[in-house]
Amino acid sequence: MASVIVVVLAVVYLFIPAVVCAEVLWKLECQPTVGIAAQTTVIRCPIKHSGQIEVFGVALTKVKQEKPVFEHIINKTPLGDPRFSLVNPAKDPSLQISDTVFSDEGEYEYYVVTNMGEKRARLSISVVANYRDPVTSSWPENVTDGGPVNLYCNATDGYPAGTIHWFDKSETNRTIDSIMTKAIKETNGSKSVALSSKLSIDSSLAPFRCVVLNSKFVKEGEKTFQIILKRDSEQEHSNTRNIVAGVMVIGSLTAGLLFSLLFCQRRSVQNVRRASAQPILSDYDPGKTADPDLETGTETGAFCNRHWKKKCLVKKQNASFDKI
Ligand SMILES: *[C@@H]1O[C@H](CO)[C@@H](O)[C@H](O)[C@H]1NC(C)=O
Ligand SMILES: *[C@@H]1O[C@H](CO)[C@@H](O)[C@H](O)[C@H]1NC(C)=O
Repeated sequence: MASVIVVVLAVVYLFIPAVVCAEVLWKLECQPTVGIAAQTTVIRCPIKHSGQIEVFGVALTKVKQEKPVFEHIINKTPLGDPRFSLVNPAKDPSLQISDTVFSDEGEYEYYVVTNMGEKRARLSISVVANYRDPVTSSWPENVTDGGPVNLYCNATDGYPAGTIHWFDKSETNRTIDSIMTKAIKETNGSKSVALSSKLSIDSSLAPFRCVVLNSKFVKEGEKTFQIILKRDSEQEHSNTRNIVAGVMVIGSLTAGLLFSLLFCQRRSVQNVRRASAQPILSDYDPGKTADPDLETGTETGAFCNRHWKKKCLVKKQNASFDKI
């Protein structure tokens, strides 16, 4: 099939005698191309020529394969893999691949026929995959301020293998304290690498930043992560506890003050009353202390009733027991 097209193109070319001389006047050069998996890849194959050139047809064949991957005679329906197309048919043989896959990788031979003759060029396609945004975790999850911590920064689904670098709060490169592991996976022609970097470090240097670099050391992602410091949250708790305790102390002090104010007021009222009730207390000599009276149990009447009711009774009872 491929050879049929090539023959057809060759016949077309044979019918243009002018082409023979013009052939040396132009060059076909394809740039090595790096495609990104799942994205559109453009393969630049500019024609180096001073004037206008018209492309009649192209055929792209993987080296060591017979059947072209893609062929297109201008003004006819393209054949082969529908993901392939000409960027600018008739004017430029540059190609594009939509939804690039890893199996597109390889060496190709590109055959181009123009109004100025035919040319073949080699081209190579390699495919890479971008890493997903890094995922971070710490162990232990809650860290005491200044305590040691293990930090993980994982990036998956990239290709080829890249690397992960670490920086602390002062932007100091801490990569040297980390260990990188790479897990390469290949399933159904799709390749991927899972990067995992473990940084063992003093948590007081937080926040930390991990940077994911691809195989060409170009940054593909980064993540800064703050560590949950245990002491911080405990301090907060004790702060609230202190506040609560403070409020309680102030509250009880105020209550006490109010109470004593009330008490004093009562007493002054009572004093006024007592002054008016002088006769009742006439047999009570302020010179005497209350205790001797109580001891003897002789004290009776108003004073006892008012102030020492219980004690008086007890003492009286004891006194009477003694008598018995
Ligand atoms: C990162 O990878 C390491 C090692 O495979 C694993 O222990 C850790 O749990 C991973 N962390 C996240 C957030 O996926
Ligand atoms: C950080 O350190 C690593 C290894 O120690 C080194 O390869 C990398 O180039 C350094 N990065 C920067 C930005 O200095």
